[in-house]
This record gives sequence, structure tokens and C-alpha cells, in this order.
Amino acid sequence: MSQLNSALPAWSAVANHAKDMAKLHLRDLCSADARRWQHFHVEHDTWLLDVSRQRITPQTLALLFDLARAVDLSGRTAAMFRGDPINSTERRAVLHTALRSDFAGSPAVQAEVTTSRQKLSTFAGLVRNGQKTGTTGKKFKHVVNIGIGGSDLGPLLVCDALRAQWSGDITPHFVSNVDRTQLEDLTRTLDPAETLVIVCSKTFVTQETQANANAARAWIVGALGEKAPGHHFVAVSTNAEAMDKFGIAADHRFTMWDWVGGRYSVWSAIGLIAELVIGTERFEDFLKGASDIDRHFTTAPFEKNLPVIMGLIGVWNRTFLNLPTLAVLPYDQRLARLPAYLQQLEMESNGKSVSLDGIHVGFATAPIVWGEPGSNAQHSFFQMLHQGTPTQALDFIAPLRGSWGGTEGQDLALKNCFAQSQAFAYGYPLPEVEADMRKAGVSAAEVDRIAIHRVHEGNRPSTLLLYPQTTARALGGILALYEHSVFVQGTVWGVNSFDQFGVELGKKLASGIDMTGAKAPQGAGALSLGALINYVATHR
Ligand code: F6P
Repeated sequence: MSQLNSALPAWSAVANHAKDMAKLHLRDLCSADARRWQHFHVEHDTWLLDVSRQRITPQTLALLFDLARAVDLSGRTAAMFRGDPINSTERRAVLHTALRSDFAGSPAVQAEVTTSRQKLSTFAGLVRNGQKTGTTGKKFKHVVNIGIGGSDLGPLLVCDALRAQWSGDITPHFVSNVDRTQLEDLTRTLDPAETLVIVCSKTFVTQETQANANAARAWIVGALGEKAPGHHFVAVSTNAEAMDKFGIAADHRFTMWDWVGGRYSVWSAIGLIAELVIGTERFEDFLKGASDIDRHFTTAPFEKNLPVIMGLIGVWNRTFLNLPTLAVLPYDQRLARLPAYLQQLEMESNGKSVSLDGIHVGFATAPIVWGEPGSNAQHSFFQMLHQGTPTQALDFIAPLRGSWGGTEGQDLALKNCFAQSQAFAYGYPLPEVEADMRKAGVSAAEVDRIAIHRVHEGNRPSTLLLYPQTTARALGGILALYEHSVFVQGTVWGVNSFDQFGVELGKKLASGIDMTGAKAPQGAGALSLGALINYVATHR
């Protein structure tokens, strides 16, 4: 008889401990242990993970490690890297790690990955050096990636984050939204003769991608003729039949495998646009950065294992301390798209309420992930984080140097990052506010009136991840750290982190809606829906 992980004694031990911890403030924890930082940071390679401002004690971590052992985290990890079908609902292996680490998957999988990488780097080289051109012989200077979700967010993040490492003269562009605005903007400015379009779609049936790809095709055909798509389009997909139908040339097709989930696919041919922009050598650095973390994740003891600690703290904050959201706050403008990337990674993976065995879990799983780069975010939503309700969990991520190599600006960024994490943790209690106001000569009446508004309760837990610089290798590492952290959380919660049935219903309903109003809606809510469709028709 299967049981939920919440029925394990190790789970109850964490839950009981959480009740005691709920009474403690980070100020108490900090003043009780002068060596708190020493106890709660881990250095690995060039990474520093500082969890000293989390609401934890040594006992918390010990109990969480026990829980990880009780759910057989090591066994599950080994199963993933071996290629066992751990995506049980879809009966699939989960082998995105094989795309970057030669110790993941079988020799047959590794051979396929090597062949695919060779084809990609050859193609990227030909486009970058101008040997592969458009129909008019002009060099490709613009590459448009058409895809959505995992077929957009990963390559977009890599291109954006590694802007300082762009080489050559190719500019990347991204089209994802079904509403056509992004494509309209591009087709007004780009020269089709210099434009290569990559249609990224694992399934090649995604509505948004199909609509945008067809519109882009019409644009290319309109400008360059019927034969042009064979030269100007590339596709990344598992669906050969659909690629045939679209007219993708044989040497312009790049394969995907069902053992790579969309949100885990940036390491595959889905990353082609990034390889075109930064070059193969840098793209391989990106893979290497992730591989280093794969090695670390699979070999380091839990106590020194960055993604294990990150994942267990995620579970602790969400499930045991009941913190509803995780704000991702990169102190590097280059990582502006990281929160969006992590939204899909965490929420599509672990936004589940049924266990692997099909039982309702009854406890909180994935937090709402959101965020913006600091220091911009300080001037918008930090107010709510400091003084609003309820408390949120926070991840600060910062490089030591700017991506251009200097420290100007980044020192200011780090200063702000450190100050904010201190303020969130330790707050500004009423006696201190009052004392400061009195010291500044504020009248007693004014202190009485205003002091309460200035109080920062603190006790807002945060993690800080520091690394030298946002290079390709570091970015690969950051993404792999979060991927494995998501895996750790999913394993403790006992959910399948690799399916996404929750996105299907909306897609199905959308495909049944007839905006002309000719076909009346059916089923629950049909009358309201019919009224809305009618409203659109009469108000446009
Ligand atoms: O709608 C969700 C989703 O299936 C994601 O998981 C995926 O990344 C995205 O759509 C795009 O899918 P595809 O690459 O098949 O077009």
C-alpha cells in the first residue's frame, strides 16, 4: 500500500520542529550563534551559497537531510541519471543531464547526443562564417526564434544573459506570444533576405508557435518566393511529419527526444539560437557549467551539496513555514529574464497536488515564483516584501563582477543586495525606530504618531548565491543548480516534476472556441462564454 511522504516519521519530525521554529526570530537565531555564517554557508568551486538568513538551525538542516534520506533522494537521483522512466505518468526517462554530462544516460543516448551536437556546431559554424546564406546570398544577420514556454524562455535567457559574450554579427530575436505583436514588430524592421527563422517546438503542434511560424513563412515567401522557406527556416522538433508538411529542409532539422522536457531543453538543439550568437565554444562552456553542477549534485554529501540544500530549504519555507511565494532577485541586469525562466521551471514542474501514486497530497507544494532584478525591484515591490503581509521567501543571486569584467556599478549592486538581505532578516524594531527618531530631534508626539509606520518586522528569510561573473559557464551552473533544486523538492513532495497536464485543459477549450460565433459554446459556463464572444463581435 503506497503512502504519502507526509506519513513518514522523518516528515513529522520536521513538522514538529517547524512549530518550535515558528516562535523564533532571525534576530534570536543570529544573536544565539556568533558563528552563524560559518555554520550556514557552503563554498563549492567558485560558488558561495549563504543560507545564514534562513529561519533554520543546525537541527533544521539535520532533520531535512533525514527527510531527504527517508524519501531516498540519492536513489531517485541515480535513477534519473541512469535514465529510468521516472516521469511515470508519461512513462519517460528524464535525461536532460545527458545533454551536458557524459556520465548520464546509456552509451546509446550519449552517442545520439554527440551526433546531434556535431550537427549543431557544424550548422552554427556555417551560418556564423557566412557559408550558409539566404536565397539571395546575403549573410544571415538576424535569427528569429519562434517558440513558447521551454522553447523560448531558455534560449532567450541565455542570449540576454550572455550579451557580453556575443561574437560575430548575428542579432537574436524572439517571438512567442500568440497575439502576433512580436512578429509584427520584427517584420517591419528586419530584412527577410538576412533573416533565419528557427521554429522551436518539441511537439510542433503548439498553437502559438504554429500560428507565428505560418505568419513568418508567409512573410518570407512574400518577399523571397516559394522556395525561400527551405533556406530561411530551421526547425527543432521530435515531429518529423509536421516538419515535412511545413517544408523544413532535411539539413535544417534538429532533433529532440521525448526524454527532454520542454523546460529542461535549453541544453539541446532548442539552444541553437544561443549557439549561433555566442559561438560553439561559449555554448560548450555553458554545457560544461551545468555538467560541473551535475557532478557536484551526484557526488557531494548532502551537507555540502548546493542543490540539495537549496531544494530542502525550498520545501522548508513552502511546506513547513507556509511561505506562499519565492521572489527571485538577481543583482545583475543580465539575469533580468531569470525569474521568468524559473517560474516555468519551478511552477510547471512542481505545481502539482497529486502524488506519484495518484493521492491528493494535502500539503503545499511549489511556491509562486516571481521577481525582477535588483536594484530596480527595490523601488517597486520591496515595500510589500518588507512591510506587507504575508512573509515571502527570497533568493538573492549576484555576481562579484559585472559581465564586462569591472566592479564599478557591481559594488553598488552588491552593497544594496547585502543591505536588503540584512534588512529582510533582522528588520528595524520599534525601540530602534523610536530611539533613532528621538536622536534625530523628532518631537515625542511625532515619534508616537509615525514610529509604528517605520517598523520593519524582519524575519523574512533569504538565500544568497554568489559567483564570480555571469559567464556562459556560470549561467549553465545557475540553471543546473535550480533544476536539481526543483528535483529535490519534487522528490520530497513525492510528485512528478516532469509532466504538465495542468496546461492542457485551457488549450483544449481554446481550440473549441469559435470567435465568429457560428458555433455556439457548449458545456459549463457556455452562456457567459457565448455572451463574451458576442461582445467582442459587436464592440470591435
Ligand atoms: O504549454 C506548456 C508546454 O507544453 C511547455 O511544457 C513547453 O515548454 C511549451 O508548451 C512548448 O511546447 P513545444 O516545444 O512542444 O511547442
